[in-house]
Amino acid sequence: MITTSHNLNNDTLCKTVFFETFGCQMNKLDAELSLGLLQEDGYKIVDAVDEADVILFNTCSVRQHAEDKVYSHLGALKTLKKKRPEVIVGVLGCMAQKDGEAIFKRMPHVDLVCGTRMFSRLPELILNIRNHGSHVLAIDEDHIVNVKRAVAYRPNRYQAFVTVMRGCDNYCSYCIVPYVRGREISRTIADVKEEVQSLVSNGCKEITLLGQNINSYGKGLPGGVTLGDLLSELDDLAGLERIRFVTSHPADMSRDLIRTISRLGKVCEHLHMPAQSGSDQILARMRRGYSVSYYRDLISYARELIPHIMVASDFIVGFPGETDADFQETVRLMEEIRFQNCFIFKYSPRTGTKAAGLKDDVSDEIKRARNMKLLELQKGISLEENKKLIGRVVQVLAEGASKSDTNKLSGRTRQNHIVVFNGSLDFVGRLVNVLIHEATDLTLFGTLTR
Ligand code: 5AD
Ligand code: SF4
Repeated sequence: MITTSHNLNNDTLCKTVFFETFGCQMNKLDAELSLGLLQEDGYKIVDAVDEADVILFNTCSVRQHAEDKVYSHLGALKTLKKKRPEVIVGVLGCMAQKDGEAIFKRMPHVDLVCGTRMFSRLPELILNIRNHGSHVLAIDEDHIVNVKRAVAYRPNRYQAFVTVMRGCDNYCSYCIVPYVRGREISRTIADVKEEVQSLVSNGCKEITLLGQNINSYGKGLPGGVTLGDLLSELDDLAGLERIRFVTSHPADMSRDLIRTISRLGKVCEHLHMPAQSGSDQILARMRRGYSVSYYRDLISYARELIPHIMVASDFIVGFPGETDADFQETVRLMEEIRFQNCFIFKYSPRTGTKAAGLKDDVSDEIKRARNMKLLELQKGISLEENKKLIGRVVQVLAEGASKSDTNKLSGRTRQNHIVVFNGSLDFVGRLVNVLIHEATDLTLFGTLTR
């Protein structure tokens, strides 16, 4: 559906765009793809809203906080829009999909609301506003499984994200994703392979495959293909050095896939597999479809087959009904598994989800205290685990100059540790060996070695 109202009467061609992204990696990649399309259409990217003719926010709805931030940014544009009514303001992504028309009601100075499956039509939608007026709503379930990618446009030449599936059919009770990202759709192996091949021809060494629920990749495709099949095909691509994939759902993570990963040389020893809670009672109410012991066994199996595999997780604290005892079980799981790192979120009720019908009965104060407790616990674990690498040599893909010290390089190990090390820019894009001599909870520091 594309609807239009209000004429802007604007004939001038606007060709600068300011783009800000909130939320997950998928959103960041969608932003990259959108900017690639806009650049091909003649747009120049600018860093300040004052210099832009088109201002776009790619939004997230996973938690209320992310939405509040976008609404506050949009509110701040009211004055600018009064001074320069020809500027086009657009809201893209999950919040656009979720709130639709209501965004125009709350923020009448917004011109474009473009949902999660329509961004490939951005240049056309913007032109539509220029020619016919503002308040363009485009939130249909278009089939954007494949977006033509300008491979040369990406933040890092040696590393790239590739979407392999979109949407989620899991309906965890707290999660808005299935409602704003739609049903699962997978790209074919041939399409993904073609994109990865062209990235590799453009210098890319490492790819991260993205999917909201990546373990169910292939569902709906002919021939019963799986993520394991896709990984096996990509593993054969000459010139590609490393393959990662996120995000794994424990209930959809098969042992067969773990066996496949263990025999593929390019697939890195890293899993992002959110546990969300360490309490069976809470997991059931979250509708996660697994128990804590199932999760524990899965990790043991992965660690048995893939030595040195690192596991990262997400946890939600303060889910409705989470008692102190439930929370202590989460603490225990964290202590036991010793994740590489964890993202901890305070439960945020999302209208339309199953959990929104449950009383949000854990106070914000308790949510905050539980959040802090897990963050501190994880920080200690990450530091201890990272310190174990001091004196060891790790393989790093040098990605570029370090942000914190531009005289140094930074990159990642196969297990996804961030490493800062000395070395000239000539090493960028190469796999190098680094001897680790210092470690914090977030970063390893070292020197190049043979
Ligand atoms: N409240 C808090 N955290 C949430 N997440 C998803 N939905 C919610 C919510 N309603 C977290 C989960 C997920 C991560 C991307 O965001 O931990 O893994
Ligand atoms: Fe949300 Fe669950 Fe789907 Fe992840 S698996 S996107 S948490 S519904």
